[in-house]
Amino acid sequence: MKKIDRTRHPDLLELREVVATQLGKQGVVILPPMDIEMSSQLLLALGFHAQCCVLDPWYNKGVGGVREDYDDYLPQLLRCVAPLSDHVFLWGFPEIVARFVRILPEPLTLKCWLTWFYKNSPSRIRGWRSAQMTCLHLTTPAAVMHVENFLNDVQRDKMQQGKLMYIPGPPSVIEESLLCGFVGRNEQTGHPSQKPLSVIEKTLLMATARGELAIDLMSGSGTTGEACMANERFAILCDISDEYTRIAEERLGIERMKVNDSVLTLLASPENRLPQEGVALPAKHPRPAALRLQNRVNQLNLEIE
Ligand SMILES: C[S@@+](CC[C@H](N)C(=O)[O-])C[C@H]1O[C@@H](n2cnc3c(N)ncnc32)[C@H](O)[C@@H]1O
Repeated sequence: MKKIDRTRHPDLLELREVVATQLGKQGVVILPPMDIEMSSQLLLALGFHAQCCVLDPWYNKGVGGVREDYDDYLPQLLRCVAPLSDHVFLWGFPEIVARFVRILPEPLTLKCWLTWFYKNSPSRIRGWRSAQMTCLHLTTPAAVMHVENFLNDVQRDKMQQGKLMYIPGPPSVIEESLLCGFVGRNEQTGHPSQKPLSVIEKTLLMATARGELAIDLMSGSGTTGEACMANERFAILCDISDEYTRIAEERLGIERMKVNDSVLTLLASPENRLPQEGVALPAKHPRPAALRLQNRVNQLNLEIE
């Protein structure tokens, strides 16, 4: 596979600088609207590698419509992000994502089947009312699990005293209400499929340490960006929709970047498939954590070992 010689493509070099600088200034970069096939190629070309990738596509029903090729489409989405991140969190309904567990693209393997449990689905179906979504936690061999992010004060003290026999992890069932009606009103952005911040935050904390990078290339209202800002992680976001990109801009107080057409044309050519050598993240995050990490993890109410 041919590599792009960046020295012959000044636009690419310049963009790499701009993205790195904006991460240093804002902590979060919002790319202009584009398809995930293109944004993933762009990040590879620029040499970004993330620790965490949130992959939250439409679910082949409801607002996003129905795709005939969904069984091919979802593995293709995973192939797009697999070279870009150590952890991938694939969201969907259990009966849908279950089909993909056996056909995960290398080097991803299933680390954990996570369930988001909510009691407040407004569905009026005459039968079982939906109360769960699945998140497949997929990892590459390079992935590090950050269980230490879930310790409460008591556990942290015990660990410092060498009295914690092993570090307890959070439960694989996350119980949080859906954002609908009056629930989570302050958080709601108008995006039809917005995930609660507290749900995305738990996955982010398992996959990253402070100052590491998360990407979300189907980022909708920008929940991943907000979780990153609140916890001093860097984030690169992109969504195909102009409307949802605008929602994310307003929510995060950050304007989308410009990407020259010349760069996109270069990447559109199948022979220019990458990857490139890595780019270093800024040494310091620009925003001290807005939410106290400890407050968050205390809410998990973990048993002390
Ligand atoms: C389920 S929503 C994500 C919601 C998001 N996690 C949040 O909390 O706001 C799926 C998003 O994927 C975007 N999307 C759909 N197809 C896409 C594609 N091919 N490339 C990039 N984004 C896409 C949609 O515009 C939509 O905002």
